[in-house]
Amino acid sequence: MARYLLAAVSLLVALAGATNGPDEDGKYTISAEGIRAQFIPYGASLTNLFINDTSGTERDIVLGFDNATFYTEDTVHPHYGGVPGRYANRIKNSTFVIDGEEFHVDPNENGGADTLHGGSNGWDHRNFTVVSYTCDSITFSIVDPDGEQGFPGEVISYITYTVKPYEWDLKMVALATTKKTPIMLSSHVYWNLDGFQNPDTTNTDNHTLHLPYSGQRVGVDNILIPDGTILPNQQYSVNDFWSSPKQLGANLTSPDIHGNCGFNCSGYDTCYLVNRAQNGPYDWHTAPVASLYSAFSGITVDVYSDQDAFQIYSCPGQSQAGIPLKKTQGFTDGSQPRWVQDYACVVMEVEDWIDAINQPEWQRDAKNIFGPGDPAYTLEAVYKFTVDDDAKNSY
Ligand SMILES: *[C@@H]1O[C@H](CO)[C@@H](O)[C@H](O)[C@H]1NC(C)=O
Ligand SMILES: *[C@@H]1O[C@H](CO)[C@@H](O)[C@H](O)[C@H]1NC(C)=O
Ligand SMILES: *[C@@H]1O[C@H](CO)[C@@H](O)[C@H](O)[C@H]1NC(C)=O
Ligand SMILES: *[C@@H]1O[C@H](CO)[C@@H](O)[C@H](O)[C@H]1NC(C)=O
Ligand SMILES: *[C@@H]1O[C@H](CO)[C@@H](O)[C@H](O)[C@H]1NC(C)=O
Ligand SMILES: *[C@@H]1O[C@H](CO)[C@@H](O)[C@H](O)[C@H]1NC(C)=O
Ligand SMILES: *[C@@H]1O[C@H](CO)[C@@H](O)[C@H](O)[C@H]1NC(C)=O
Repeated sequence: MARYLLAAVSLLVALAGATNGPDEDGKYTISAEGIRAQFIPYGASLTNLFINDTSGTERDIVLGFDNATFYTEDTVHPHYGGVPGRYANRIKNSTFVIDGEEFHVDPNENGGADTLHGGSNGWDHRNFTVVSYTCDSITFSIVDPDGEQGFPGEVISYITYTVKPYEWDLKMVALATTKKTPIMLSSHVYWNLDGFQNPDTTNTDNHTLHLPYSGQRVGVDNILIPDGTILPNQQYSVNDFWSSPKQLGANLTSPDIHGNCGFNCSGYDTCYLVNRAQNGPYDWHTAPVASLYSAFSGITVDVYSDQDAFQIYSCPGQSQAGIPLKKTQGFTDGSQPRWVQDYACVVMEVEDWIDAINQPEWQRDAKNIFGPGDPAYTLEAVYKFTVDDDAKNSY
């Protein structure tokens, strides 16, 4: 009897293992027509995203590492594909005030001048729990205790990723269960729509970006801390991605690009505002806030989001860290380096106005500070992929 029971249990475990566990690299795979995505519990991170390009070749179009264990071992910690939390981007002087009480959080950047992505043990340094996993969806959860990194109160969050034909969706929910606390999440994916397999270039300077609602951006100091100003992205200026689509590298030779991403930095690390309400009520599902396109692969990603800002980081100086490419990317014949080059990627972050907790005159507390009696913090985004059939003719 016990023998039969054991056999039955083994069979169940084997069946469950076939669909319900990570692969040997620690990755969880979900797929739908035209798309396959992989995730790990560390930071609830997207590690791989496969799309067939214009010639039918499968490209892995996001940066990541080969296996789950390396995310904890890697000392550079580029926040690959994870969820920065509980407060994404920078907090000025690692300080904020809620109801007259001053809080100090872990100062993990610029020699202790500020906090980046929730501190040295922010959410994308922690293993989330997998709470559900099907063939086309995965949900992660995290319980962030009161006082962790200096933040007041407990926060409980669920991150759900779903794929549909040629589409990746994300939904994030967070609840402040005990005290008022800042919450701002994002998705920190590094894109290279050529999968680092464009023989003519290692970089994304030739990717075309359009931010149709982003006529303004958040003004920052030389360590990228918001200074309270909202700046105009005048037409034809280096930060104009709204008036028409433009290649990411189009203005790299302009003197105006120098210092645009902080001290002595040429490129983008910029929080663009997404202004949609001026034309009346809108449905965020109907028009993308950003589109990124590469003529080499013919792949376009259109990003739809309910968020009011959109960060672009163009990977200046990225080669210094010597971060390895995945085995699913790049070339193995020695024709290009096996580590990430400068301007080889672009991070696109759906988010709210950064460091709004330190700019009360922006009047965004309802979207930045959450307490037990308040509505939940939510963030939704949809990434739709299309492939240009004609692109290969131009190559
Ligand atoms: C790419 O095309 C191949 C061949 O048709 C197919 O097996 C594979 O699943 C496709 N990849 C994706 C991500 O759809
Ligand atoms: C995990 O990935 C890293 C980085 O690519 C690599 O150096 C390491 O050998 C891999 N480990 C295993 C067990 O595959
Ligand atoms: C996260 O899980 C990985 C295995 O996937 C393990 O190697 C690592 O030590 C864990 N990291 C932390 C910070 O718990
Ligand atoms: C920065 O925070 C420290 C406490 O960590 C405080 O003493 C100091 O006054 C703050 N500086 C500014 C400019 O707000
Ligand atoms: C990048 O775009 C520029 C301007 O359109 C073009 O001159 C150049 O050949 C392109 N480079 C590559 C590697 O595609
Ligand atoms: C930026 O590039 C665009 C497209 O090539 C061009 O129209 C614009 O004049 C450039 N702006 C600057 C400041 O160089
Ligand atoms: C500015 O950046 C350039 C190029 O990366 C570098 O050669 C130079 O040393 C930097 N200057 C300063 C003052 O950091």
